[in-house]
Amino acid sequence: MRTTIRKREIEDSEELAHAIALVWNTTYQGIVDDDFLKGLLDADNIKKNAEKLRNSANNSMDYYVLTLQGKIIGWIYYTLDSDKYENAAEIHSLYILKEYHGNGYGRLLYDYAVKNIMKKGIKKLVIGCLDGNPSNDFYKHLGGKYIGNHLFREKYLENIYLFEL
Ligand SMILES: CC(C)(COP(=O)(O)OP(=O)(O)OC[C@H]1O[C@@H](n2cnc3c(N)ncnc32)[C@H](O)[C@@H]1OP(=O)(O)O)[C@@H](O)C(=O)NCCC(=O)NCCS
Repeated sequence: MRTTIRKREIEDSEELAHAIALVWNTTYQGIVDDDFLKGLLDADNIKKNAEKLRNSANNSMDYYVLTLQGKIIGWIYYTLDSDKYENAAEIHSLYILKEYHGNGYGRLLYDYAVKNIMKKGIKKLVIGCLDGNPSNDFYKHLGGKYIGNHLFREKYLENIYLFEL
């Protein structure tokens, strides 16, 4: 089936806010507080988050969505610098909707970002992943080396992986 990777646009905000609420609930059960996860699914919260996405939609941002037949099924957001490691880019967000896992889409987005990052002459990349999330093994599988951890939002242990590109 036909997939496309393109920059996220203002018009994606509502759909993306829904997708983010869903994917956080399928990814972080047992890792992030239940009340927080449930709250994300509230219509009011989705509306608020859609508004935030609308306000932050900015063409210079490296925030891309993966669509399948026009529907957003995944997304990646990265920056060309990181406050976690010197001279490294950072992937802040890489998500595929649960029903689409295991079809190569996660690697597709990762490879897309890596290609863009390397084109800028950057040779290192870091990614944080909350402890307990099975995706830690995904990053190890892609060649990431564990280099330490820190507290995310002052509460959740986040493991940091370094990729030499
Ligand atoms: C992590 C995630 C992006 C992977 O996407 P995906 O589309 O399911 O993965 P792919 O099908 O592209 O897999 C690519 C490779 O990684 C491997 N892989 C995928 N998930 C894995 C896991 N949890 N542990 C170990 N290996 C994994 C696959 O076997 C495949 O290997 P191969 O290409 O050598 O055969 C997806 O599972 C996801 O969105 N998870 C929830 C959100 C999340 O945790 N994101 C990271 C936040 S830090």
